[in-house]
Amino acid sequence: MNISKIAHTRYTTKKYDPSKKIPQELMNQLIDLLHFCPSSINSQPFHFIVVTSEEGKKRVGASMDEDVFIYNKSKILDASATVVICSKTEMTEDHIRKVLDQEEKDGRIIGAEKKKKTLDLYMGYVNAHLHDTKDINCWMEKQCYIALGALLLGAASLHIDATPIEGFNRKILDRDLELREQGYTSLLLVPLGYHANDDYNFTLPKSRLPKDQIFKFL
Ligand SMILES: Cc1cc2nc3c(=O)[nH]c(=O)nc-3n(C[C@H](O)[C@H](O)[C@H](O)COP(=O)(O)O)c2cc1C
Repeated sequence: MNISKIAHTRYTTKKYDPSKKIPQELMNQLIDLLHFCPSSINSQPFHFIVVTSEEGKKRVGASMDEDVFIYNKSKILDASATVVICSKTEMTEDHIRKVLDQEEKDGRIIGAEKKKKTLDLYMGYVNAHLHDTKDINCWMEKQCYIALGALLLGAASLHIDATPIEGFNRKILDRDLELREQGYTSLLLVPLGYHANDDYNFTLPKSRLPKDQIFKFL
């Protein structure tokens, strides 16, 4: 695998071929990638909704009916699948205890003393974001963007096209999927599939600021 080649060839798909579907085995790999994506203190403050049914696509697409977002709607309707990346709306000690119980079950934490120490460490981070920097929601959302990055690179490495989307009405989607009642809010949509032959963005050259403006090598 050549990561540089993937970076040059992956691109934001603007038009999907609705007749092309992602094989389930590849979808499973992407789901695995999301399941195992890293997060600060292993907090996993995300929830992923994988939409493949026509009815589900229509419901997600309805969050793009306003003029400002309408250009995104056909991507959802025509793509093979869409992942709705959601963030938790609250970070609680109960959730952290759940993570610790899982770490113990998976054999990463052995013994009550180690578990207590880890709880104190993890809650130290959570309390700092809650009470010192007061950026707990932003912190949780950052973890979701790590998942976005993994998904985009992972999809491209499997020759699957993707579109990262922030352009939709979160309030409408949250209401329709009853996300806030479950402690989540939608953050990003990622349609996945295969581009249409007339996707204008497929043939446009990539454009980035010059390397010397983006990097410094010390
Ligand atoms: C967080 C994020 C949100 C984005 N939202 C949208 C969007 O709502 N609609 C869209 O067509 N493209 C969206 N994009 C795509 C960017 O415009 C695109 O990544 C950028 O122009 C670079 O082009 P490339 O992805 O083809 O390399 C988004 C990208 C990111 C990373």
